[in-house]
Parts: sequence; structure tokens; C-alpha cells
Amino acid sequence: TYVVTDNCIKCKYTDCVEVCPVDCFYEGENTLVIHPDECIDCGVCEPECPADAIRPDTEPGMESWVELNRKYSEIWPVITQKKDPMPEAEKYDGEPGKLEKYFS
Ligand code: SF4
Ligand code: F3S
Repeated sequence: TYVVTDNCIKCKYTDCVEVCPVDCFYEGENTLVIHPDECIDCGVCEPECPADAIRPDTEPGMESWVELNRKYSEIWPVITQKKDPMPEAEKYDGEPGKLEKYFS
């Protein structure tokens, strides 16, 4: 599966949702997540993210991100259409520690 990681938070560019063939992105207030059981591992979303926030779970250290993506994809609503990024997306792009500060 692929997962949405830290740098999506407070950016939410949503280019990813446009290309997903199985519509497995879910939307919270400040970030998106991918449902790990619905993702078919096609990989097309990864290069689409301007914030470079999407990663394959085969990379080291991804276990906690898979858990987080799973947990919230079961609570949040599906998102299938691109919308405007968050108002200060450029400012927050690359800021460290976003998970602790702004995850929602
Ligand atoms: Fe969707 Fe493919 Fe990305 Fe999985 S890897 S979230 S199926 S676009
Ligand atoms: Fe987030 Fe990147 Fe998608 S910033 S909303 S994972 S395009």
C-alpha cells in the first residue's frame, strides 16, 4: 500500500485524489489518508503530490503511518475531486513536526 505522510498536513494539495483509480483517499481537516486495504499499489499518486507526501509502505519506518492511515480512513469521508489547497499551503510545505502540531 501507499500512505500519506507528514508533509500533506496543512498543505492538502489534493492532486492525488484525481488520479487514484479506486478512490481510496479520505479527508480530515488538515490532511488526507489512504485506506491501506483499498489501495491497489498502482503508485500513480506518488509523483502527483507537490509536497512529496505519499510513500510506499516498503520504505523503512512506514509502519506507524500505515496504522494512522488505516485508523482515519475508517472515520473520515472519502474525497474524489481535487479542490483548492489549504490557504497557507506554501508556508507549511516542508515544516518539520507537522504531525505533532497540526494533525487533524
Ligand atoms: Fe490510489 Fe494507486 Fe495511490 Fe493506492 S497507489 S492510493 S490505488 S493512486
Ligand atoms: Fe496531500 Fe499531496 Fe494529496 S499534499 S492531499 S498527499 S497531493
